Amino acid sequence: MDKIINIKNLNKIYGTTIKTQVLFDINLSFDSGSFNSIIGASGSGKSSLLNILGTLDKPTSGELYINGKLTTNMNKNELAELRNETIGFIFQFHHLIPEFTALENVLIPHMIKNKGRIPKDIKEKAEDLMNLVGLSKVKNNLATNMSGGQQQRAAIARSLINNPSIVLADEPTGNLDSESTETVYKMLRDINEKFKTTFIIVTHDKKIAEMTDRIIEIKDGKINLDILR
Ligand SMILES: Nc1ncnc2c1ncn2[C@@H]1O[C@H](COP(=O)(O)OP(=O)(O)OP(=O)(O)O)[C@@H](O)[C@H]1O
Ligand SMILES: [Mg+2]
Repeated sequence: MDKIINIKNLNKIYGTTIKTQVLFDINLSFDSGSFNSIIGASGSGKSSLLNILGTLDKPTSGELYINGKLTTNMNKNELAELRNETIGFIFQFHHLIPEFTALENVLIPHMIKNKGRIPKDIKEKAEDLMNLVGLSKVKNNLATNMSGGQQQRAAIARSLINNPSIVLADEPTGNLDSESTETVYKMLRDINEKFKTTFIIVTHDKKIAEMTDRIIEIKDGKINLDILR
């Protein structure tokens, strides 16, 4: 299978005066269309790694290739374009804009990409995504008036509006009850199967990790286990 993400000899050190190294010589690649989880204790470096994979943060040294392209020498604009076209993000706290409706929130990444224009087919796509995540009935509700689970499902729809080939999720169900958690995971899996989207999901929940095809465990900034199932 093609490698959609490839990292080589990656190190991350935070701080300039007081330096803390949090990732140590990581080598890792991900198959296109794969469904992966990253687990590990709090502070082990999971979010640091995910932020670098998403080009939201730069490694101190090492290389990150996305779709075969070296990203670590790209400038800010090139990275923003790459992110917008290739990567969808789902965070623990969904970061929906409360004054916007669910549907409007889903359209935001598209508006950023296309300077505010929303053609009819994209509007329809957003509606389809609302269907997919089971929100068609509440799509015109303000984000602030939706439940935590509904907001998180809107955030999932939002992460998919630009047809990303990669979705990075950092504790996407960290704030949800067990029932919503299961719904959200089934949804991510469906999306993975339907669109062949590559998923990398950070979770501290072993039960969730066991639903994925590959579990990578980070310990003290190093890969401790890498289990393909
Ligand atoms: N911006 C930063 N500046 C300095 N240190 C940081 C910064 N971000 C994270 N760290 C440190 O890096 C280490 C790894 O943090 P990271 O957020 O990657 O852990 P994590 O595995 O995601 O933890 P959690 O499960 O609690 O979210 C921690 O010791 C943390 O204190
Ligand atoms: Mg984290």
